[in-house]
Amino acid sequence: MRPKVAIRREHGLKAQRAAALSIRLGLPLIDTPQADGPALMLEYRGGRLTLCDHRERRARPVFVDIEASIRRYPSLPAPKRGPFAQAIGRRTRTIIDATAGWGQDLGLLVAMGYRVTAVERSPVMAALLEDGLSRLAVNSDVRGPFELPRLVVADAIHYLSDLHEPPDCVYLDPMFPPKRKQSALARRRLRLLREVVGDDEDRRRLFTSARQAATKRVVVKRPDEAPPIADHPDETYAGKLVRYDVYMHGYRE
Ligand SMILES: C[S@@+](CC[C@H](N)C(=O)[O-])C[C@H]1O[C@@H](n2cnc3c(N)ncnc32)[C@H](O)[C@@H]1O
Repeated sequence: MRPKVAIRREHGLKAQRAAALSIRLGLPLIDTPQADGPALMLEYRGGRLTLCDHRERRARPVFVDIEASIRRYPSLPAPKRGPFAQAIGRRTRTIIDATAGWGQDLGLLVAMGYRVTAVERSPVMAALLEDGLSRLAVNSDVRGPFELPRLVVADAIHYLSDLHEPPDCVYLDPMFPPKRKQSALARRRLRLLREVVGDDEDRRRLFTSARQAATKRVVVKRPDEAPPIADHPDETYAGKLVRYDVYMHGYRE
């Protein structure tokens, strides 16, 4: 199958980094996008690894910005308020974010002071996340009293079934259709993500693994109008466009 993503060949100091990424991800290294080649490019721009869609007339690069999630809070650790924090629960300390994606929810969880392991199975998304996390590690503006998350590049369905230290909570946010009310940036992120990773059609299997792994609860983010991923969540917390379904430990399919 033709790759959907290529790596932009770089020159000077960045050349080695781009070449190494191309070998690591097994993706072609190219100078300029071709009409018959991949439209999506991983490119180093402004000190960040970005994903760019060259079919857009003015292709604006998108990157993992965990710092943006953390900067939303004037002080750290961020207060555990609102539907997301309520769904995660007051007694939760350790979380596996099993669908890390662009790392936006990951940033919120880190800012709230949880100990988080992020899992992502798409090597392209994982490379973007790794870059975002390495920027976070050296950014003294946002380094607060929180622990840097660990990134695991794996299919969470398998990863969750073989854990030495099960987490209190597993958080799931599988793909769902774009919302009209979302911002242009949020829609672009989702469109690019869907093109890279597809539709997460095995989400029920992921949910089953999460139920077996979490010692306290599984939290699933859903669009506000969509049915639950499984029947009868034990609790539900509604946000503006999404809701969080909570499944307490003890449930078995
Ligand atoms: C909707 S996105 C998550 C967005 C993320 N919550 C955020 O705030 O940016 C879903 C992501 O989960 C990943 N994913 C889906 N199923 C997975 C699995 N079984 N194991 C690991 N990653 C998975 C997809 O590759 C995709 O990057």
